[in-house]
Amino acid sequence: MAVDPLIELRHVNKYFGELHVLQDIDLTVGKGEVVVVIGPSGSGKSTLCRAINRLEPVESGEIRLDGQPLAEEGRELARLRAEIGMVFQSFNLFAHKTVLQNVSLAQTKVRGRKKAQADKRSLELLDRVGLASQAPKYPAQLSGGQQQRVAIARALAMDPKALLFDEPTSALDPEMINEVLEVMQQLARDGMTMVVVTHEMGFARSAADRVVFMADGRIVEDRTPEEFFTDPRSDRAKDFLSKILTH
Ligand SMILES: Nc1ncnc2c1ncn2[C@@H]1O[C@H](COP(=O)(O)OP(=O)(O)O)[C@@H](O)[C@H]1O
Ligand SMILES: [Mg+2]
Repeated sequence: MAVDPLIELRHVNKYFGELHVLQDIDLTVGKGEVVVVIGPSGSGKSTLCRAINRLEPVESGEIRLDGQPLAEEGRELARLRAEIGMVFQSFNLFAHKTVLQNVSLAQTKVRGRKKAQADKRSLELLDRVGLASQAPKYPAQLSGGQQQRVAIARALAMDPKALLFDEPTSALDPEMINEVLEVMQQLARDGMTMVVVTHEMGFARSAADRVVFMADGRIVEDRTPEEFFTDPRSDRAKDFLSKILTH
């Protein structure tokens, strides 16, 4: 099935000093696709996510969103960046603002919505992630899993074209991981375009259209989960899978 490309990276290279952290990255994420990125620690997964919305500048190559090249800076970059929501391992909620205020803030500041309109949308999204009743609380009054669901609602509130998740469940206690993965599964079913860095192989198997395996700054494999998990081609992937699947 040919899909319309939404995120396109062509020959992207990035260095941290001597370290060639992204090496000639070619990646296309189609509209509505869910791409899970896995790989050893230090392989460049977070840098890849950050490069996609230019939180990290790259030295060469091209990054396009919905056919448009990502601007280097300025208003155009801010506009394009608002089209890609990002959810991090640490939830990054504002501690001194309520859950509702956290979800509404960027809607009024960046999208120019009136407060009432933003709050209405926030409550719909909090309901969608199962947290409508928590709206007046402060982040510290919520569990980690609930805070991460607020962060997802906040990202959705910008009506993004795509969502990037960088190890969204890695900081959570085990019993809270599923409630976050379930929200992500539902988003995937609803057709959201998602790039997800995760070690949750169950999620990769059930929700991903493709698995991208990175090692040493390169994309080593880019295949369906079925192919990747049953028949990894590269020694790096075989080695990685043998380590994570045995504990
Ligand atoms: N801001 C930075 N300055 C210098 N080196 C960095 C920086 N961020 C990451 N790195 C290095 O780049 C490599 C890739 O990091 P990262 O993208 O965070 O990997 P991953 O998310 O796969 O664990 C690592 O060797 C890391 O130490
Ligand atoms: Mg990382």
